[in-house]
Amino acid sequence: MIKRETIEKVLDAARIEEVVGDFVDLKKRGTSFIGNCPFHNEKTPSFHVSVAKGIYKCFGCGAGGDALKFVMELEKYSYPEAIRYLADKYSVPVEEIERSPAQLAAQDRRESLYVLSTWAGKYFKEQLWHTESGQSVALSYFKERGYREDIIKKFDLGYSSDQWSALADAAAENGFHKDYLKEIGLAIERDDGSLYDRFRGRVIFPIHNLTGRVIGFGGRTLKTEKTVPKYVNSPESDIYHKSDVLYGLHFAKKTIKDNDVCYLVEGYADVLSMHQAGVENVVSSSGTSLTSGQIRLISRFTNNVVILYDGDAAGIKASLRGTDMLLEEGLNVKVVLFPDGNDPDSYVQTYGSTGFKKYIAEHQEDFIFYKTNILLKNTGGDPIKRAEVIREVIESIALIPDEIKVSVFIQQCSHLLDIEERVLLTELNKIRIQKAKAQDKKIQQASKSSNESSPPDMPPADFFLTDAERTKEVSSEGVTPQTLTSDTLQEREIVRILLNYGEELAEWEGDGDVPIAPLLLNALDDVTFEDRPSAFIVNVFKQKAEHFEIPDVKYFFSHKDREVQDLAITCVATPYELSPNWNDDKRKIYVRQEREHLRELTIQGIYRIKKRKIEKEMIKIREELKIIDVGENMEILLAKYQKLKEAEKTLGEFLGNIVVK
Ligand code: CTP
Ligand code: MN
Repeated sequence: MIKRETIEKVLDAARIEEVVGDFVDLKKRGTSFIGNCPFHNEKTPSFHVSVAKGIYKCFGCGAGGDALKFVMELEKYSYPEAIRYLADKYSVPVEEIERSPAQLAAQDRRESLYVLSTWAGKYFKEQLWHTESGQSVALSYFKERGYREDIIKKFDLGYSSDQWSALADAAAENGFHKDYLKEIGLAIERDDGSLYDRFRGRVIFPIHNLTGRVIGFGGRTLKTEKTVPKYVNSPESDIYHKSDVLYGLHFAKKTIKDNDVCYLVEGYADVLSMHQAGVENVVSSSGTSLTSGQIRLISRFTNNVVILYDGDAAGIKASLRGTDMLLEEGLNVKVVLFPDGNDPDSYVQTYGSTGFKKYIAEHQEDFIFYKTNILLKNTGGDPIKRAEVIREVIESIALIPDEIKVSVFIQQCSHLLDIEERVLLTELNKIRIQKAKAQDKKIQQASKSSNESSPPDMPPADFFLTDAERTKEVSSEGVTPQTLTSDTLQEREIVRILLNYGEELAEWEGDGDVPIAPLLLNALDDVTFEDRPSAFIVNVFKQKAEHFEIPDVKYFFSHKDREVQDLAITCVATPYELSPNWNDDKRKIYVRQEREHLRELTIQGIYRIKKRKIEKEMIKIREELKIIDVGENMEILLAKYQKLKEAEKTLGEFLGNIVVK
């Protein structure tokens, strides 16, 4: 286990803008930074980093947290992994507490999988460079294919010898648990419980995640028989989510950003050859069609994608797959096909780096025109087929979010297809109307299930959503967007006031030397908070208040209870301070305004909750009055109801008068 002091040193050293800046292109905006959110696809930045508060917050998807949470979420690190990552970044030596065997056994599972995976990568490398068969079979194969030693080393290529269980045995000797070997697919279990190696007799291409850790492997056979699968790959596992990984991205990300374009190829071999030729902004989808997770990865570094595929039928088909998704995300997509069954690998090996770059420059074509031409070739003049082509092409164009691009494409396609622009536009509008209708339906269904709206002068209902609540929303996509009840909103508003202004003095009260927190707590003493994270935070404030203290807000930022942590961060990252919809001036004015109206803000918060309590009691009485035999209690109930009604009215009027202007 990592020592407490180390953790504290790491958290002290970590600067949010630097930690985030390694992954997101941040632009300075006043005292904070903004950029495109790495947690969801977006074209306009709604991801904010507050240097002063040490937190990030996305107003698009709601993700938020401190530096530690950022790397945990983004890299899917466990807590100790994230600490180690930051310790490494800030050169903080990691001190460990000795572990007992029991603690070792309970060691974080994912961490163990990472360790095993890294070990296996080293093992394969060792086999390649330092065994006889490795050198004579595998290294010579790589060299025959024309790979230089520096490239073989850079990509950590390796070899798995042609024995049934060489790796499994070595892993056992090194104390790795059998279950872990199975889990990341390095070995496969036979019926009798023994293991055999998945990658035996293959050269190994390790797959790295964004930070360069080995998370999986691709193994290419050295046999030529058609019956043997050419590639065998690691299965999906807890550390290897295929749909979120692109081969080569770790080595390519900087060049992609610098050159503002990403080349997309099919295979490992293409990535290697291109690097060797000095074209380093290249990634591979490893033979499968692109996923939205992979597109999101690319769009973190650039908006321009050039697809480089084989010129054969399969390559052409592959290039059409997944591309609509790229367009939809607003990426600019171009296509280059290589001639005569060449792939980027063979082409660059034959024509060298200059010839290769020249070919790309001369043959890249906007995806839309490429698609149009391909489809047109297959129509053979058949008018019905032609009509289908037009529809398909316009469908792709309709996905493009940029209007200017759309009109340029329509214009040029009108030439290509030899059809009047007007006709194409009509078709485009038809498709758009259909889409809009479908969208409307979705929204209507969603709003039916959430008719609670937030009271005036409070942040919008979804502002207070914690990450957990948003995740629910995503998983039931399009069905029930999560909205909070106004009860919950009011409670969270109290928490927001406590966290932001709890320490400020309530200047309007008595001598003006009492902070807002105890005042607020006192006034709400008879109120039970029902929202779990709110109740928790309010309780901590209450406990502290007994010793005349106010808790440090940072305590909640790194609290182990996710919902508490999320709520605290959401409350402190107020939209008034960070929202992209507020330019700097407006923002300053608003924050000043809120500060200048702390009295109203506090009283409003208190009265709203009180009013709600009264309303609830009134409802209860109304229910009781419905029961026929309330008998003599009737009078009492009615009197009580009358009193409540008056109180409610007074509160209502009062609230009406103090609404913050
Ligand atoms: N692939 C795979 N399984 C296969 C074939 C292909 O996983 N049976 C994936 C691999 O990631 C491979 C990519 O698809 O890199 C492209 O396939 P291919 O063009 O056949 O492989 P190359 O990378 O060109 O490999 P080589 O040049 O060694 O044949
Ligand atoms: Mn190839």
